[in-house]
Amino acid sequence: MVWIELSGDCGNRVRFFEADSGFSEPDPCFKGEYLSCFPLRRDSGLELCVGLGRKAEITQRRLTDAAAKAVKVLRGYCIHEAVFDFSRSGIKLDETTVRCAVMGIKLGLYQYRKYRSDFREENFRFFLSDPETPLPAAAETSLKETENVCDGILEARDLVNMPANGLPPAVMAELLRGEAEKVGVQAEILDERQAEALGMGAFLAVGNSSGNPPRLIVLRYLADDESSSKIALVGKGVTCDTGGYCLKGRDSMLGIKGDMAGGAAVAQAIFALAKNGIRANVVGIIPACENRISRQSFVPGDIIRSMSGKTIEIRNTDAEGRLILADAVTYAVRVEKVSRIVDIATLTGAVVSALGFTTAGVLTNDENLWRQLQEAGELSQEQYSRLPIYPEYEKLLHSDLADIRNMGESYCGTITAGLFIQAFCEGLPWLHIDIAGTAWVDKPFFEYQSCGATGASVATLYQLIRMQQHT
Ligand code: BES
Ligand code: ZN
Ligand code: ZN
Repeated sequence: MVWIELSGDCGNRVRFFEADSGFSEPDPCFKGEYLSCFPLRRDSGLELCVGLGRKAEITQRRLTDAAAKAVKVLRGYCIHEAVFDFSRSGIKLDETTVRCAVMGIKLGLYQYRKYRSDFREENFRFFLSDPETPLPAAAETSLKETENVCDGILEARDLVNMPANGLPPAVMAELLRGEAEKVGVQAEILDERQAEALGMGAFLAVGNSSGNPPRLIVLRYLADDESSSKIALVGKGVTCDTGGYCLKGRDSMLGIKGDMAGGAAVAQAIFALAKNGIRANVVGIIPACENRISRQSFVPGDIIRSMSGKTIEIRNTDAEGRLILADAVTYAVRVEKVSRIVDIATLTGAVVSALGFTTAGVLTNDENLWRQLQEAGELSQEQYSRLPIYPEYEKLLHSDLADIRNMGESYCGTITAGLFIQAFCEGLPWLHIDIAGTAWVDKPFFEYQSCGATGASVATLYQLIRMQQHT
């Protein structure tokens, strides 16, 4: 458990320093360089000096990272309680600083240890200031709001880190139903028979490949009756992606349990909106299934009929995400009658080749949504880069045998994957996020990450909806 309070006192102190601040450093060896740490023993307890780097280079991300570094170092000394002190830096304890500090503390302390017998729950308590420091009025709301968003990020990490044998689709559905009920989000879970009745042939082609049956998880958060706008958040929920008959190679098998990170982000963003009482109408749609080899599996060459009526020629069974998202999007448009669509998925290896592990790929047909996403990303310290969708790319998905095929050529794989999904959006404003690179890190890039799931895009989706809040 991690407790964070706005102000309070205890013996241990974390002091943040700027590199060229003019403040006298506590020791000539400590220069305030970014992420440098210098522990001092005081009568009252430990004083940990943490460098923020040069003033001009301090960003929200660096502030978050410095807070994360500090709490990790304290944990290393078995210290579970401290006061943060920004008075020796030029940083004011405003709303933004509170948000960064809370994110750094909560995300930085995360470890996935559920399956270890030696796991013991640790308790931490941090104060963001001492009782003498004046606090802005918005600090309290910023603290609570950020805590709820961070809890969502950590829950998403837990879900994504869960091994495939611990999280088959039905278990994922029940876990999310339980969480939804606690925060007043309505959950409806459709089983394979209900999906069949809706004609979801694309979702079922993948879902029926496994003995663990698929589930369509629908989360409704309808909290703004003055607005007719309703946004769909559609998240890929493949709990186990072996590739199917187009079996993945040995080296790409390790990531197969993380292929539901889009679904986890959708659910957790919605739960955070509900906890924070944001006025918005959102429907989360998470097609959850496994992609495996069995007698029932689909194979390359098959032609399947999607819920939209469009037929799809299967070129590659490992391109399963776009198939289940296609039916989920049709469900969003025709059953939930949404007015806009955002979909998010660990969709292509190509996005990792193009953008690496710290930037997600985006395709969109709506300038407004793109602007809002960039702003939401900024508030969340997450990066997005847009790829083009010129009409000539659509030819790459042409099939002689069916209406569309599920894979293009061996180039621009992120674009063709996104365009496949757009083909099911029936002209609505749409934005697609490919988080195949950002959802998982074998080696963390930032102090607030840990090895494994990152909880990518939970905060961005939350902020994206929040900024449209109708007041
Ligand atoms: N889930 C994978 C994409 C992926 C790759 C996620 C690496 C995380 C890390 C997806 O289902 C997939 O296998 N995509 C194929 C598509 C191809 C067959 C058109 C890919 O990217 O290779
Ligand atoms: Zn795949
Ligand atoms: Zn996949």
